[in-house]
Amino acid sequence: MRVLAEASVQCLRLAFLLMVAAGAAPSPALSAGCPERCVCDEQLVVQCAGQRLSVFPVDLPLATRQLILSDNRIGELPPLQLNYLSDLVYLDCSNNSLTEISESTFGNLRKLAYLDLSFNALARIEDRTFGALASLVMLRLTDNPGLSEIHPDAFAENSALQVLDVSRNNLTTLNVSTLVALPALRALGLSGNPWRCDCDTEDLCLWVHIEGFKFQGERRVQSGRAEHFCLTSLLSTKY
Ligand SMILES: *[C@@H]1O[C@H](CO)[C@@H](O)[C@H](O)[C@H]1NC(C)=O
Ligand SMILES: *[C@@H]1O[C@H](CO)[C@@H](O)[C@H](O)[C@H]1NC(C)=O
Ligand SMILES: *[C@@H]1O[C@H](CO)[C@@H](O)[C@H](O)[C@H]1NC(C)=O
Repeated sequence: MRVLAEASVQCLRLAFLLMVAAGAAPSPALSAGCPERCVCDEQLVVQCAGQRLSVFPVDLPLATRQLILSDNRIGELPPLQLNYLSDLVYLDCSNNSLTEISESTFGNLRKLAYLDLSFNALARIEDRTFGALASLVMLRLTDNPGLSEIHPDAFAENSALQVLDVSRNNLTTLNVSTLVALPALRALGLSGNPWRCDCDTEDLCLWVHIEGFKFQGERRVQSGRAEHFCLTSLLSTKY
């Protein structure tokens, strides 16, 4: 009996080793458990929305692919815990209390395709904040009322980025030269910011105007003056 038990333990261990060797993701049951107040499913989705969490959940399955943290009061994304989740594809942190993100926050999330940081309290986006996110396709960064600064090269390395939304922040300027250079970008949300339009930001103004066509159904740029400048810019370029 004892021999049998030992044999089956060996079997399990072998099966696990084979699984790991074959690159198969271990099931959540084999890695860490499921965080308190969250629901984890077989598809490696961890759903923690609206649970009044004030800190990032512990005990996340290491193989998590989708992590939904929206509608909580989380004030900080701890780089170490977050970057253990190297298979993460989808991360929704919208409607929390995040005040800061840095280069190390998303340092290891190379598979991340969707990131939502809307409805937080971010004030600035530094260079290289999203530098490691080589697979990022969609970035939602709207409704951070105090967000007044985005580093010119913040998105320079996100060559897979298709959709970037920075609507309804407190931005007065945005250097669009790095955005224009992004090969996959097809939609850019800029509305609801106090854009400062002058000759130095002519390119930006052009984009603010063009955006009106790209995002039909959304409200147009607030400032009438901006529209005037943009239109002037648009008419003076020969297409
Ligand atoms: C944000 O989350 C709170 C619950 O934590 C909810 O009451 C509120 O409606 C949410 N706001 C938005 C804009 O979704
Ligand atoms: C937006 O930025 C201006 C300065 O450009 C500042 O005076 C104002 O307080 C900011 N708004 C918020 C909500 O932080
Ligand atoms: C925009 O950013 C690029 C790259 O950092 C820089 O070379 C360029 O001078 C900037 N343009 C403006 C108008 O600030």
